[in-house]
Amino acid sequence: MAPFFRHVIATFVGVTCTASAVTFTIPSQAHTGNYQYAPVDPAPVGISFEFFAFPSYLTNVTATTTCLSNWRDLTGVWPPIRIGGTTQDRALYDAQTSAYVVYTVANPADAPASLTFGSSFMTLAAKYGGSVVVGLNRGKNNIQNTISAAKAAVSAMGNLLAIELGNEPEYYPSNGQPIAAGSWTPAIDAASQNNWALSVGSALNRRDIIQAGNSNDSPPKWGAAELIATQNATVKQYIHDYAHHNYPGGTITSLMSHSGISRNLHVFDADVAAALKEGKQYIFGETNSVSGGGAASVSPSFGAALWTMDYVVRAAYSNISRTYFHHGTVGNCQYCFWGRNGIHGKRGVSHGP
Ligand SMILES: *[C@@H]1O[C@H](CO)[C@@H](O)[C@H](O)[C@H]1NC(C)=O
Ligand SMILES: *[C@@H]1O[C@H](CO)[C@@H](O)[C@H](O)[C@H]1NC(C)=O
Ligand SMILES: *[C@@H]1O[C@H](CO)[C@@H](O)[C@H](O)[C@H]1NC(C)=O
Repeated sequence: MAPFFRHVIATFVGVTCTASAVTFTIPSQAHTGNYQYAPVDPAPVGISFEFFAFPSYLTNVTATTTCLSNWRDLTGVWPPIRIGGTTQDRALYDAQTSAYVVYTVANPADAPASLTFGSSFMTLAAKYGGSVVVGLNRGKNNIQNTISAAKAAVSAMGNLLAIELGNEPEYYPSNGQPIAAGSWTPAIDAASQNNWALSVGSALNRRDIIQAGNSNDSPPKWGAAELIATQNATVKQYIHDYAHHNYPGGTITSLMSHSGISRNLHVFDADVAAALKEGKQYIFGETNSVSGGGAASVSPSFGAALWTMDYVVRAAYSNISRTYFHHGTVGNCQYCFWGRNGIHGKRGVSHGP
């Protein structure tokens, strides 16, 4: 944490000074100078990979390893990664296949409507030097399949930090997910999350293993406080942390507003406090500038890069322990930090938005 922060805050202060001639004294040691410090990670900036695209990022996109190891050089640790997204709820585990993932798409820019994955998916994730969160399926309502996948993850991955049970469950009805057939509300989802956390956690015989929540719709309707209020001690023992997704959207100008960033993050204050009260971390399991892969006129720009820098520091100050920046379909992703053909921030800097 220390090296990362020294670098980023120094850069940030440089930018701030130029703009408004404000100076800050940066304490040389933590817990001095009357600042309140958040319980953040050594490397609070992480990367999220869309589930089906993860093997391709790791095996077919050379910039992945280069960029991740550049982050490691900056912070001293490999950045945390999370594998998940909409396609985690379209994926089923197939213990028989030797392939990482099996799917077909009409166009390479598309995400698959369904896919299967094998145990090699987990052994690939196990090779990563940093911590990994794996997002598994709840939407298809096939808990035995998810338990098999979770067992494969636990047995293969010494670097497994947590398992998600479903992604953005508020969209299950519109996505036609079987688990939401009938009716689906925050309360029904919470009961489902709790039952699944109990069943999967006890099948694995592992406490502190589930990354719960994972909604995108704003709290308090969907969020950690709402979910925690439904959980008893038996369920809570299986929860590792509470996660939410956050895509502020807007324009380059609105993203670059520091007060806009603060306002955006204050939406999560009660949820962060609720998670910390349980002694659990609160994180952004999936985040980036504009939802749905980003916007061509906003996301691959220098202004969005400045937003990223201010946003991650401000999020850490709000006691959000990690922020995982989402990387979607390779070749169709405006907000990705990198892709098959290069580093996106660089393109934004050279050519502008
Ligand atoms: C990597 O690219 C090759 C060639 O395009 C393709 O056959 C293979 O399936 C890709 N691997 C993954 C994991 O996507
Ligand atoms: C705790 O909650 C779960 C489901 O949310 C329920 O199955 C279990 O019986 C409850 N345990 C106790 C001790 O109340
Ligand atoms: C973050 O946590 C610290 C320590 O628990 C607390 O003093 C501080 O008020 C929190 N910050 C915010 C913005 O909630």
